[in-house]
Amino acid sequence: MSASTLPNATLTEAYLALTPGSAALAAKARVAMPSGIAHDSRHFDPYPIYVQRALGPVKWDVDGNKYADYFGGHGSLLLGHCHPTVMAAVHAALDKGTHFGACHELEVRWAELIMQMMPSAERVRFTSSGTEATLMALRLARAYTGRPKLVRFRGHFHGWHDHMTNGYSNHFDGSATSGVLPSVADNVLLCDPNDVEGITRIFNDHKDIAAVFLEPTGANFGKMPILPSFLTLLRDLTKQAGALLIFDEVVTGFRVSPGGVQAEVGITPDMTTLAKIVSGGMPGGAVVGRKDIMDWLDFAAAKAAGNEKVAHLGTFNANPISAAAGIATLEIVNSTDACARANAFGAEVRTKLNEVLIDEKMNWAVHGSNSSFHIFTNPEGDDVVPGAFDAAAFIPKMLNKPRGEGVSGQLRMGMLVNGVDMNSGPSAWISAMHGEEEMTTTVEALRATVRALKREGVVS
Ligand SMILES: Cc1ncc(COP(=O)(O)O)c(C=O)c1O
Repeated sequence: MSASTLPNATLTEAYLALTPGSAALAAKARVAMPSGIAHDSRHFDPYPIYVQRALGPVKWDVDGNKYADYFGGHGSLLLGHCHPTVMAAVHAALDKGTHFGACHELEVRWAELIMQMMPSAERVRFTSSGTEATLMALRLARAYTGRPKLVRFRGHFHGWHDHMTNGYSNHFDGSATSGVLPSVADNVLLCDPNDVEGITRIFNDHKDIAAVFLEPTGANFGKMPILPSFLTLLRDLTKQAGALLIFDEVVTGFRVSPGGVQAEVGITPDMTTLAKIVSGGMPGGAVVGRKDIMDWLDFAAAKAAGNEKVAHLGTFNANPISAAAGIATLEIVNSTDACARANAFGAEVRTKLNEVLIDEKMNWAVHGSNSSFHIFTNPEGDDVVPGAFDAAAFIPKMLNKPRGEGVSGQLRMGMLVNGVDMNSGPSAWISAMHGEEEMTTTVEALRATVRALKREGVVS
């Protein structure tokens, strides 16, 4: 069965008809796990799809439906699902043991590769996730500078630990989110993206800033773009103030280019946080940066400098399976045109999707950079020309909008019933394996979805 065999069904009716196996699993999940899920961004009404297997750029759910996959392991699968070289490396590592509770050869090779590829990486410390990487980068920044405050940008995501929760999708006034101490939030200074006056004022008013964190392509992998001139300003302001500039390249590292955004724009941050692609689709992350900062983690260097070493443990840091997947992935990224191929698909699919919007007379826009696309559903009905959309000018309208609700939820459902899985942005992470078949499926899915939404009176 597919959406085309259900021509008279609404999108919701089609979704329910196509996914009974997912519905049954979701019903069981809801009595075992809050909302039945393990990650907030997998929340989907009436229930999410349950996936059984994946290969290259596609995956299949438990009901046998096939999807062009733009969720891409939450962005970790630049090389697509089950890349043969990565899988062989993982299998070989698995056969030798999953955890030695000891140092091992693969972690050394892994760190060397990262240092070779990422300009800011003078030293590497592995973590088990991106959240842990940003937590460690913050702790290092505070230890190194002896200052308490961090500056973040509204809408930017850096994981879910206490210092990173407000100002991402709510609490834009800087107040603490549920379960977080107000004293933690007091040390977070929020600024609007690209706000030159705002950031200048923050640096004038606060002489106790340890670090500025940001997603260097802008919030949610460029959905709310950061202007290159603003990155330059941040580099200058942090240098002048003796604060550290930290690029969160958890998504963009090894994706935008083999050396991340920093290699593309020629701005080297003091530290960089990494995860996702760095560990080749397996759990893992890293904080990398200047040796004099990373020395706060080094027993001998900290002692010689008379500093109390920054503590860091973690059972699964640099585990051999993630190391094997990471090495195999980074070697391919470093020696092939994988990033460029994914970027080229991104440019083409954005153009083609905007042509659909023009054909269908929709005042939405498909935008993004590199291996992404985002669909702006224009909730306030502004004048928007698909293909000539200035996303930076619309940041205030994108902030404050709950993800995955209203039209964007219906849009995602339409894409799903037409064979495309996007994330809750609604946005897409593209792999180097996406090709002609996925291009056609995606373009036709948007056309069918927009027509269905019009038919159902959801949009006009
Ligand atoms: C930019 C960015 N930073 C940090 C994180 C947190 O990484 P993790 O989910 O591995 O904890 C994410 C996760 O999506 C991210 O996109």
